[in-house]
Amino acid sequence: MRRIALLPGDGIGPEVVAEARKVLEAVAAHFDVPFAFEHHLIGGAAMEATGDPLPSSTLASCRVADAVILGAVGGPQWDDPTAKTRPEDGLLGIRAELGLYANLRPIQVHFPEMSPLRDARDVDILFVRELTGGIYFGASGLSEDGTVAHSDMVYSVPEIERVVRLAAAAARARRGRLTSVDKANVLEVSRLWRRTAQRVMDDEFPDVAFDTVLVDAMAMHLLSRPRDFDVVVTGNLFGDILTDEASMLPGSLGMLPSASLGDGRPGLYEPVHGSAPDIAGRGLANPLAAILAAAMALRHSLDLPDAADAVEGAVDAVLAAGIRTPDLAGDGPAASTSEVGDAVAGQVARHK
Ligand code: IPM
Ligand code: MG
Repeated sequence: MRRIALLPGDGIGPEVVAEARKVLEAVAAHFDVPFAFEHHLIGGAAMEATGDPLPSSTLASCRVADAVILGAVGGPQWDDPTAKTRPEDGLLGIRAELGLYANLRPIQVHFPEMSPLRDARDVDILFVRELTGGIYFGASGLSEDGTVAHSDMVYSVPEIERVVRLAAAAARARRGRLTSVDKANVLEVSRLWRRTAQRVMDDEFPDVAFDTVLVDAMAMHLLSRPRDFDVVVTGNLFGDILTDEASMLPGSLGMLPSASLGDGRPGLYEPVHGSAPDIAGRGLANPLAAILAAAMALRHSLDLPDAADAVEGAVDAVLAAGIRTPDLAGDGPAASTSEVGDAVAGQVARHK
């Protein structure tokens, strides 16, 4: 029995996670693999119920699950800049506690006509963002008088090596190209990153084409020549920013999944989009990012690659049939969150 922990979180999180579960139930029936689902609190919902954005019971259950699927955290009611804890602390905490050092964010353009770029055909980039180190987790502080603050960007050789290895192995299984992004012309930490990445690639991945790009130039290349990139590996902060930029290439955030992986089980799977409180609870949210995140869980944590292919194929079929939430529907009639989930689940059930 495979255990799947569901962490719906805030805003549209619960409605999109419900659709991911619906599709996983169709997978369980069709492929005859039993799943045990459990729901746990995280983020603002957990703060309301327990005061803690990552209750210890949630963490304990996630540690023994085979995969964790998360909706989204955060909302305007918790935006107080002086608050001691925030919903986001739940997300950062679970990444750190589960040792999820590599965040995979695939960017594919399914509908070039929706892209803000004139020609985004065939864009297919896999970002691998380091997720448990760098400036997010370095020492930080505020001076007594509140006028000076610092947040340190820190990386060690082993932290760089493991994420570069994971990214290089992914590149080997794709088009055989890896780009490492840093700011080595200014930052000491980036010079260590670059040297270490180059050594790992020379010693262990001579068959993978490797280059390094400065982060400011990368911001530009993503718009001028996005087709030239296969796998991109970078640190936590640069990866946060570049993946938000890249997420606009397909024209909608609504279809982008992500996987956060460590060396052991479980992985954490979530949509790239946030909690979208403005549309929460109205059946407007696109569940495809959460459903595609579930497909990544089937592939990377649940050892069911055929089922992952079936879900991804089902999503393509549903889109091709024009069953789309408002973000993708253009001027055509729009389907609701649960109608899209029903359609994908139905398509999985007909999979051959
Ligand atoms: C992301 C988000 C998070 C991050 C926030 C919500 C803490 O922006 O997953 O990219 O900065 O990592
Ligand atoms: Mg982000």
